[in-house]
Amino acid sequence: MKAATLELQDEHDLISRMLSTLDWLVVRLESGASVDDSLVMAQLEFVGNFVAGCHHRKEEELVFPIMDRRGGDEAELASRLREEHRRAEELLETLRSSWSSGDATAAARTASELASLLRDHIDVENTIAFAYVEMALTDDEKDALIAELERFNRGTRACDRARAEGLLDDVIRQISSYA
Ligand SMILES: [Fe+2]
Ligand SMILES: [Fe+2]
Repeated sequence: MKAATLELQDEHDLISRMLSTLDWLVVRLESGASVDDSLVMAQLEFVGNFVAGCHHRKEEELVFPIMDRRGGDEAELASRLREEHRRAEELLETLRSSWSSGDATAAARTASELASLLRDHIDVENTIAFAYVEMALTDDEKDALIAELERFNRGTRACDRARAEGLLDDVIRQISSYA
């Protein structure tokens, strides 16, 4: 059976790897140790651009409307997932301001909440939401969705996958330099 959400699931894997680096940040800040600004800036750019500016927008514009049209539990789940995107954006802004004001305790608390929210959110999308979508669409509709996702990627700067992977590599390289 054809699948239309494979690319989004693959993006979840990339995002999850960046979330593991947020876990590292939390432990590091909670221990009272310092972290270079460039590391946190790369994490903030990844979540602000690739996650919020690309991945979440594709889901909201192209995937959740399929669930809305089916009504019932599927539409309810789509609204919950949209609300979680908004909450992630709020946490990102809180993290940005705590970090820039030098409040490491608040930054650690917010980074921990953000990583936990996005991890649970991704799990629900992979196991429930995307399964609904795959069941709802015919093969032709899946082809159309795949084409729309590709078109969105081409027209959206924040969807630059190489840039996102580069940011993750940069963060991992910086983390290993602390070891
Ligand atoms: Fe999502
Ligand atoms: Fe997602």
